[in-house]
Amino acid sequence: MENNKPFLEVLQGRKTDRIPFWFMRQAGRYLPEYRELRSRKNGFLDMAFDSGAACEITLQPIRRFGMDAAIIFSDILVIPYALGQRLEFLEGEGPKLERLRTGADIAKLNPGLMERKLSPVYEAIAKVSSKLDDKTALIGFAGAPWTVATYMVEGGGSKDFIAVKKMAYSDPQTFAALIDLLVESTAHYLIRQVEAGAEALQIFDSWSGVLDSDEFRKWVIQPTKQIVDLVRDSYPQIPIIGFPKGAGYNYMAYAEGTGVNVLGLDSQVPTKWAARVLQPLKPVQGNLDPIALLAGGDAMKLAAERIIADLSSGPFVFNLGHGIHKDTPVEHVEQLVKMIRS
Ligand code: CP3
Repeated sequence: MENNKPFLEVLQGRKTDRIPFWFMRQAGRYLPEYRELRSRKNGFLDMAFDSGAACEITLQPIRRFGMDAAIIFSDILVIPYALGQRLEFLEGEGPKLERLRTGADIAKLNPGLMERKLSPVYEAIAKVSSKLDDKTALIGFAGAPWTVATYMVEGGGSKDFIAVKKMAYSDPQTFAALIDLLVESTAHYLIRQVEAGAEALQIFDSWSGVLDSDEFRKWVIQPTKQIVDLVRDSYPQIPIIGFPKGAGYNYMAYAEGTGVNVLGLDSQVPTKWAARVLQPLKPVQGNLDPIALLAGGDAMKLAAERIIADLSSGPFVFNLGHGIHKDTPVEHVEQLVKMIRS
């Protein structure tokens, strides 16, 4: 199928004249117009579940910087929320969830409410999709089961992941029940996003790097493959970007085992290695250190030039290696965009 959106061309493995780009967390607190809108709302979830606000926030970075793709403004934790787990975003503290510790806690989760609870996300996607020009693509997304499970079991962010890893090691059957529920609900959520107008999907596995390689296969590769297969049953052509942050050497097994079309690279992946080993298998996306963007100046320029030099001879989407930091000066983003475009 012919389309003229450079981002989608690259995801399908073709090369384009210009390097398409977008930035993870491109909507958010580094933008004054986001902070202004946020100050009028009752917190993050209130914005994410107001389809008008979510649409507006999704478009804010596109208006300023003209990225090749918009990503719908939402969060990976809307799945636990839609399954009935209590979730709060406390200002400056990150997400807090009611902890899941036992099989009984997991059995209480209820997928029956998902459709109603997530309908504002689908409405926001339809709204954004009607407002984008014919060069800009719309990305839908979800967290991968492993990463979402870390938040559900730990009750929020973690530094050591002891509770979730302990459950995975000592009670793999109970943990598998949680992962299976997340596979089903996440696949359904992604399919509904495509129905609503998402043209590509990204699966964020932000904490895949904390597992050894056997556990990585069990809890990262297998569930991701199940999701990819389920989505492809409904939408065989939809491009899916996998982002197994921190996977290191396991990037190769992930590329071969999950069936994703495109590999999102974190900043630790050496770009020359990626060009030689990963890019012949799949298009790649990445991987400027978001702190190089925050710092700006020559360090940012040199790092971005090196990434472009190493990866632009194959199918490549410029991105960061993780989300934009909230203290990033908007002028640095402007300078980076100028560089990518020239
Ligand atoms: O990329 C985008 O612009 C789309 C929006 C998006 C958000 N979260 C909005 C958000 C996306 C793709 C995410 C993904 C996400 N959320 C991940 C995976 C990517 C990653 O960063 O590793 C994870 C782990 C989360 C969980 C999450 N959500 C955390 C840990 C936090 C608190 C930390 C923080 O940055 O405040 C959030 C809140 C969140 N999600 C904000 C935004 C804009 C900040 C909300 C606010 O206070 O305004």
